[in-house]
Amino acid sequence: MTAVTTQPKPRKSLWARHKIFETHSIVLILGILIVVSIGGLIEIAPLFYLQSTIEKVSGMRPYTPLELAGRAIYVREGCYNCHSQMIRPLRDEVERYGHFSLAAESMYDKPFQWGSKRTGPDLARVGGKYSDEWQLRHLINPRSLVPQSIMPGYPFLAHTALRYTDIATEMRVNRASGVPYSDEMIANAESDLRTQTDPDSSTATAFAARYPKAESRKFNGSTKDLTEADALIAYLQMLGTLVDFKLYDNKANLR
Ligand code: HEC
Repeated sequence: MTAVTTQPKPRKSLWARHKIFETHSIVLILGILIVVSIGGLIEIAPLFYLQSTIEKVSGMRPYTPLELAGRAIYVREGCYNCHSQMIRPLRDEVERYGHFSLAAESMYDKPFQWGSKRTGPDLARVGGKYSDEWQLRHLINPRSLVPQSIMPGYPFLAHTALRYTDIATEMRVNRASGVPYSDEMIANAESDLRTQTDPDSSTATAFAARYPKAESRKFNGSTKDLTEADALIAYLQMLGTLVDFKLYDNKANLR
């Protein structure tokens, strides 16, 4: 007679339990879905309880009608294919371009122009870096100022009349997606657009009150025609100039 020894059943090894995931693709997919949705919920759910995910920063205002028209030309010509508008918080970028970009700085950009490729330099803070004349000559023929430049020229901008009869509609569309244009701004859109290139006009004070810190002058140098270059240069010269970073760094304007 043989003795019956009752040996304890060996515990299933971790491998055996894991095997079920490795040998059944459906179980694996379900497992992945569960894990990813837990991670997703932890990341996304809190955003619905925050009033705003964009830190408030003083100085930001919606684009003036002229800047908005210039921005449309920037998009039309595909400048974003070679230029980003987003300075990353990395030391080399900050030393080259200035303070890193804040979310608030593109909150009125519909759609944002962060770009994805830098064939040319970042333009987020190019405003005020060069004179209007430099910008104009550079747009007409980049190689006349930067001999090794591979940027294409856009000479037609300097003599193509700016069409702006639809600017009020464009502002209304922007308002629908959250840009705070008032009825007054929309009603005066076309006149404000012309006023920005004519600081001596009688409407200049009202314009300045509607758009604080907006620079008004004839951006393409010539006194007569209002051209596409006027609008594009007005836009470029404003980029990155709205937020006063001296205040920001002192935390004085953080609300
Ligand atoms: C094929 C790529 C390309 C396209 C498209 C392009 N650029 Fe450029 N851009 C460059 C390069 C490269 C430079 C650097 C050399 C130079 O200054 O010309 C540059 C420089 C600039 C600068 C000077 C920046 C600085 O800080 O010195 C401005 C402003 C600028 N581009 C504006 C524009 C605008 C506006 C458009 C659209 C109308 C545009 N670029 C389209 C490649 C491009």
